[in-house]
Amino acid sequence: MTTARRAYRWPQSLAGEVPRIWYGGDYNPDQWPEEVWDEDVRLMRKAGVNLVSVGIFSWSRIEPEEGVYDFDWLDRVIDKLGHAGVAVDLASATASPPMWLTQAHPEVLWKNERGDVCWPGARQHWRATSPVFRRYAIELCRNMAEHYRDNPYLVAWHVNNEYGCHNRFDYSDDAMRAFQRWCRKRYGTIESVNDAWGTAFWSQRLDDFDEIIPPRYIGDGNFHNPGKLLDFKRFSSDALKDFFIAERDALQAITPNLPLTTNFMVSAGGTALDYDDWGSETDFVSNDHYFTPGDQHIDELAYSSSLVDGIARKRPWFLMEHSTGAVNWRTINYRKEPGQLVRDSLAHLALGADAICFFQWRQSQAGAEKFHTAMLPHAGEDSQDFRDICELGGILNTLSEEGLPGSELAKAKIAVVFDYGSEWATEHTATPTQQVRHWREPFDWFRALADMGLSADVVPIASEWDSYEAAVLPAVYLLNEANAQRVRAYVSGGGKLFATYYTGIADEHDHIWLGGYPGAIRDVMGVRSEEFAPMGDDLAGVPDHLDLSNGAVAHDIADVITSIGENAHVLASYKAGHWSGMDGVPAIVVNEYGKGRAAYVGSRLGREGLAKSLPQLFDAMAIDYARCDRQGAVLRVERGGTKIDRVNEANGVERRDRRFVFAFNRTRDTATVQVEGEPVVVYRARIDDGGRTAAIEPNGVLIVRC
Ligand code: GAL
Repeated sequence: MTTARRAYRWPQSLAGEVPRIWYGGDYNPDQWPEEVWDEDVRLMRKAGVNLVSVGIFSWSRIEPEEGVYDFDWLDRVIDKLGHAGVAVDLASATASPPMWLTQAHPEVLWKNERGDVCWPGARQHWRATSPVFRRYAIELCRNMAEHYRDNPYLVAWHVNNEYGCHNRFDYSDDAMRAFQRWCRKRYGTIESVNDAWGTAFWSQRLDDFDEIIPPRYIGDGNFHNPGKLLDFKRFSSDALKDFFIAERDALQAITPNLPLTTNFMVSAGGTALDYDDWGSETDFVSNDHYFTPGDQHIDELAYSSSLVDGIARKRPWFLMEHSTGAVNWRTINYRKEPGQLVRDSLAHLALGADAICFFQWRQSQAGAEKFHTAMLPHAGEDSQDFRDICELGGILNTLSEEGLPGSELAKAKIAVVFDYGSEWATEHTATPTQQVRHWREPFDWFRALADMGLSADVVPIASEWDSYEAAVLPAVYLLNEANAQRVRAYVSGGGKLFATYYTGIADEHDHIWLGGYPGAIRDVMGVRSEEFAPMGDDLAGVPDHLDLSNGAVAHDIADVITSIGENAHVLASYKAGHWSGMDGVPAIVVNEYGKGRAAYVGSRLGREGLAKSLPQLFDAMAIDYARCDRQGAVLRVERGGTKIDRVNEANGVERRDRRFVFAFNRTRDTATVQVEGEPVVVYRARIDDGGRTAAIEPNGVLIVRC
């Protein structure tokens, strides 16, 4: 099952330049006096920068008064950049409306659930459903496109910026009316809305669409209708998407040949919008990713980028923003360790990015982001960060020359499924335990598989997860009938499926599948659970863990499995005191179903428990892991393979036969790997043993060409 996608279009190189990995960042020349621009361009060239994103927050400078446009400064800076061979990804500039607009039209400001207004003072203070705001924004898009339609230095449109970062939910009357229209379109009749939201509960029956209000403040400790809340999240993603589409189409009507994108915010725990759905509306996918400091760093980055690659359906994607070091928005803004600036960029690249960009080019001197690191830090050219940026530019050049751009991330053996709907539904506050959310489980699987030496693909549920040898449904709480059928077809056709606790519990309206859990796919999994057994340590004497017979330990939640199917067998059960009622209850069950097998993991084992259970699970599922190193010291990723379509389709399709193998050290010690091909990048690593092995230092990378 594949959702219809827009044709893939990648930013073309400037006339006379050869296609390369795009390299650069957000550039905010309007924060600096004009004499600094020449210095910027000189240093960009020195670093090998070939693209910058310009004008993202420049609305008030471009349109200082209503209907009065000042493009001169922007023309001058774009000209300087273009002459130096630096291409421009031009923003629609609509992300932060100017004061004159919000003063004249305070009705464009969004409201929170209590009706408080989000006043101007930062950015993204506009509401997506305001017809007034849309009129102004589209007018700006048209003027931008008209003015720059023939500019030779533009290679892409950067539409708006991180939609929904600050204005994801709006509870205003405009939003209310739009939500009513959205419900009418989705459900047709108010009776269907009543059915979907189960409004017989607590007297919530609706007689007309105009009785639908957003999930506004209902008092502390009270609970919103889960179906309605889930639909409001879907609506909020769609409302911003409609706004994006309006901007996109206004730009495209005038500049049909310029590819368009908007920067997503995919990270392990972040789910502002349904980015898989959005991915079908952009010409190419781009993402902003900010590192998680500490032990998760490389794993979280790889997990997120793998999901972006899944959203991009394996077409090369654009890393629009990441940081050279510390950000400014955490409570403690940890710096990157030496080597991580380059290593992180190469990790995004390994996982399918063909563009490596940062927020931002020159570190701000004033404003809320003055402590956010940048390619050119406060310290200036004579700084380690800038030297790293120059070194990275050189490495990207080498990889471009070696033919990396355009190659696809090689398909893994195992797909780990991510589902936005399940994440949103499990965020509800009236659930068996607040310790369980969808996203933690796919991340644990990704890490546990990496500990086995296996890099899995993280893929959205609407993608082709069922084309993999094995697939994991990790706490995929929502399964509609169509997806349950897909699961059935996959396993009966020979697929190897892993599913965990909290999978297949409810349908798309968050109505529970009856008859015992996991109701949607009980037959496939060969288990029936009657109850949840949450665990915690908030009260004395409550169970806080369960030991499994295979040595793994469960936390947070376990299913009370009361029976297993005829073709199922128990791989591990709980070893618990008799008082708990869990002693001997099946914990991991493998079922034969048609030509395939399904393994059910009935509790939260976490990364460690999964890693401990995986060899046993793989044996039972007939998955060959003999060649996995099982140390997990290295994250090994391949790009390329037998047939690689060149990205620039306009120039025809060129087939290459190159494969690049990336090895990243996941540990704090030196890791040794076999050298599988011709070394292309040896970063914080050393080739030993006459070229046969390499010692990779912490934060080091080896890239070889095969
Ligand atoms: C992003 C945003 C950038 C910058 C960056 C800082 O969310 O798009 O404009 O604010 O964060 O990390």
